[in-house]
Amino acid sequence: MAFTEQERADLTSRADEIIARYPKPRSALLPLLHLVQAKEGFVSTDGIAFCAEQLGLSEADVTAVVSFYTMYKRGPVGEYHVGVCTNTLCAIMGGDVIHDELRRHLGVEGDEPTPDGKVSLERIECNAGCDYAPVVMVNWEFFDNLTPDSAKELVDGLRAGADIAPSRGAERLVTWREAGMILAGYPDGQASTGQTAGAPTLAGLRIAKENGWERGEKAARRAPDETPARSASEETSSATRERS
Ligand code: FES
Repeated sequence: MAFTEQERADLTSRADEIIARYPKPRSALLPLLHLVQAKEGFVSTDGIAFCAEQLGLSEADVTAVVSFYTMYKRGPVGEYHVGVCTNTLCAIMGGDVIHDELRRHLGVEGDEPTPDGKVSLERIECNAGCDYAPVVMVNWEFFDNLTPDSAKELVDGLRAGADIAPSRGAERLVTWREAGMILAGYPDGQASTGQTAGAPTLAGLRIAKENGWERGEKAARRAPDETPARSASEETSSATRERS
């Protein structure tokens, strides 16, 4: 996608800001690709050439990075890109069924957007939200504990322009291009809004506290004649000493 003179000037000015954050220009490649993606909606061949030129890299270097990371797209996706986690835990909890139902419901395949350009669909790997499985991401925001029906309601709402908030984290859902700007390093002020760690995430900590397993407490509760268990590293160094 060829840039207009104005677009190129805007991109170059932002690129200068991003590159200045790093000791070496090439370290700015990932945010720069997000910047280009925010402008184009995906990373085109011209976008790759722009990044290469700004960073003194070859276009092959940049293409290798773009094609490695699935968060960068080589063609248009929807205004709301829906990622259904089908990794182990989410799949067991219904992620595969959700993905297949959405695929049928939307009539799309791969990253291809719906004809109105509103929604696209992708299988994604674990997003560290397993405690809320099955998880769906929309523009990298969490929608937790979904079912095939609630997932279909979600995409219908997105296509209808309903006011939809993520289950946790940011209180307002941003568009695909807005998410690109955030990932390029231009926060939208929502990083510390909304709930982050909920009850399922904190369940282990709660159980530890209830049982007095917090750091220091277990040692204090040990009987005076109880020999403390040795850690794996202590066992290893002891075995090494005995051999020598
Ligand atoms: S397996 Fe789906 S978030 Fe971890």
